[in-house]
Amino acid sequence: MTERSTLLHDVKVTRRSDFGHGYFELFLDAPELARVMGAGQFLNIRVRNELFPLLRRPFSSFDLLKDARGKPVGVSILGHVVGQGTRMLAGMNPGDHLHLNGPLGHPFEAPENPDTRIIMVGGGIGLAPFLHTVRQWTGRDMALLAGGRSQRDLAFMKRFANTGASILMASEDGSVGVKGRVTVLLEAELKALKGRPAMVLTCGPWAMMEAVARICGAGGTACYASLESVMACGYGVCNGCVARVKDDSEGGFRYAKTCVEGTVMDCAKLVW
Ligand SMILES: Cc1cc2nc3c(=O)[nH]c(=O)nc-3n(C[C@H](O)[C@H](O)[C@H](O)COP(=O)(O)OP(=O)(O)OC[C@H]3O[C@@H](n4cnc5c(N)ncnc54)[C@H](O)[C@@H]3O)c2cc1C
Ligand code: FES
Repeated sequence: MTERSTLLHDVKVTRRSDFGHGYFELFLDAPELARVMGAGQFLNIRVRNELFPLLRRPFSSFDLLKDARGKPVGVSILGHVVGQGTRMLAGMNPGDHLHLNGPLGHPFEAPENPDTRIIMVGGGIGLAPFLHTVRQWTGRDMALLAGGRSQRDLAFMKRFANTGASILMASEDGSVGVKGRVTVLLEAELKALKGRPAMVLTCGPWAMMEAVARICGAGGTACYASLESVMACGYGVCNGCVARVKDDSEGGFRYAKTCVEGTVMDCAKLVW
């Protein structure tokens, strides 16, 4: 029997955790969503059931929540307060309700070769899609390289403990992990592969993803980026989320709507 699912959800907040410095996690009671959502997809959330703020705000699924029997019961989102919408979400409490659209966009695709090392490279809040990824691909060979300006941007990394992925951190001020940029860790990881197949997934600030794409391109490693373009509708009608993708036209590129063609895109095809 084919599973039927809807893109419109009214979900209840069951818990909120705060990690300090504006980072928070909201746990959502959403069994139907949890059954169908893939890591790398996103939810477009109406932060308040009123006219303001008008536009929904896009969020990755952070964790896939299961009950004691392993049955999916919900998802969580990891948020970072940057403006009014995220501030409203950060103030939500158990029992509050949220209207959301999802899952939207395409999920990350697992490499066919089971021996492929999956290297995830995230910066700050861009690490959000990777807990779900690790849960979804349990048993695969996975490394997570996490970067931030300082320990403050990586306090939520404790949520990745005991997930089976090997975790390395880098911070620009040296307050946690290796001092420097996360790309230093990536270069070392790729060097240590010694010919083993690998696939890189990346999400975070554009400049970081561009550097990741350049390193992977130079070594011929497959690399996919989850783009966090500014969005409005989330389903392909407003043109608010475009990225340039290489093609054979005169200009050498076309504009792709990342909400429907992505948000996961092949780094080799993007114009950085
Ligand atoms: C596919 C996708 C997944 C995302 N996942 C997460 C996530 O898991 N956790 C998280 O905290 N954030 C995530 N974001 C970013 C998040 O959507 C924005 O931070 C949020 O919409 C800002 O809303 P605001 O009202 O607080 O800020 P605003 O007042 O709207 O803006 C404040 C700042 O945030 C930037 N911004 C605004 N809207 C967006 C947007 N849609 N995308 C990117 N930057 C924006 C603005 O340029 C401005 O600098 C994601 C964005 C996308 C596109
Ligand atoms: S967000 Fe409207 S077209 Fe992508």
